[in-house]
Amino acid sequence: MAALPPHIGLNFTSTIHKDINPSTDPTKSDLSQPSKVVLITGAGRGIGRSIALQYAAANVATVIICARTASELDEVEQAIHGINSSVQVRKLPLDVSNDAAVAAAATKVRSEQGRLDVLVNNAGASDDWAPISEGDVKAYWNTWTVNFKGTYLMLHGFLPLLVDTAEAKKTLVDVVNITSIGAHVIIPGASAYQTSKFAVLRLTEFVQAEYGGRGVNCVAVHPGGVLTEMSARIEAIRPSLTDTPDLCAGFVVWFTKGQRSWLCGRYLSSAWDVDELVAKRDEIVQGEKLKMRMVV
Ligand SMILES: NC(=O)c1ccc[n+]([C@@H]2O[C@H](COP(=O)([O-])OP(=O)(O)OC[C@H]3O[C@@H](n4cnc5c(N)ncnc54)[C@H](OP(=O)(O)O)[C@@H]3O)[C@@H](O)[C@H]2O)c1
Repeated sequence: MAALPPHIGLNFTSTIHKDINPSTDPTKSDLSQPSKVVLITGAGRGIGRSIALQYAAANVATVIICARTASELDEVEQAIHGINSSVQVRKLPLDVSNDAAVAAAATKVRSEQGRLDVLVNNAGASDDWAPISEGDVKAYWNTWTVNFKGTYLMLHGFLPLLVDTAEAKKTLVDVVNITSIGAHVIIPGASAYQTSKFAVLRLTEFVQAEYGGRGVNCVAVHPGGVLTEMSARIEAIRPSLTDTPDLCAGFVVWFTKGQRSWLCGRYLSSAWDVDELVAKRDEIVQGEKLKMRMVV
């Protein structure tokens, strides 16, 4: 693969992590978030599974784990209880691209929990890469349907409960849309995946514009390069899959601990050092950094 261009911010902080680290590890820093209800899509394996486990370590009240494969949710439930038996686990078998199923899930979570403090839109797909005219049309739209429509439907269904929670508890609630560093580059063959993740960045800015003033703090997060069922299928990116799934999990838990509305609407990489990121607050806010803009 060609060298990555500087605008993707690979080295936005001088320290780059490949794994969870003391500032993002709930067993080493005070990242405890008791009473929160957290919902994670794509939580049956890979990065979403790690996010669920790190929230258990952060001692949240309830983790709602969603995916289509029920047996994987059973395994994650057991793993959560192995870490923290006091965390309530709710398994929600769900296809994020199904309008009716997502609407029903939102109704269920409202009636059973009455609140939602954190939504992590992590479910994703990357079908086989191919140049535009050579790929399969259905596969192209499957990637877009899971990555973009799925994220949109979850926002459509759950933003009302998120806003109500922010207002009732007089707090910020958080939405993390898992995107990709691929949103910033153009790798021939990867247009379905990379345009869908690019669109997720702009959707994140729309959440900020429409709901930021109502207590919803929404960011888009690149999870690092992680060897998972999805990424293992893409031969071209194999050499860059050197991060652990806990890298992103710790980063997300750190982010939602902090009421960090100054990051709202922005792209963040899990590999960045969070203490350096905080030190760059004025540079980021005053410079309108970490948003998608044309250079003119
Ligand atoms: N791995 C990387 O290096 C990397 C890099 C950049 C970004 N990402 C992003 O990270 C996220 C997690 O990916 P991963 O690498 O951890 O992949 P993974 O291990 O294959 O996990 C994907 C998860 O998404 C779920 N999912 C897929 N389609 C779904 C649907 N229609 N409805 C509900 N859940 C669905 C899967 O469960 P079911 O199949 O059971 O539904 C699974 O739990 C994705 O958004 C991906 O694009 C990954």
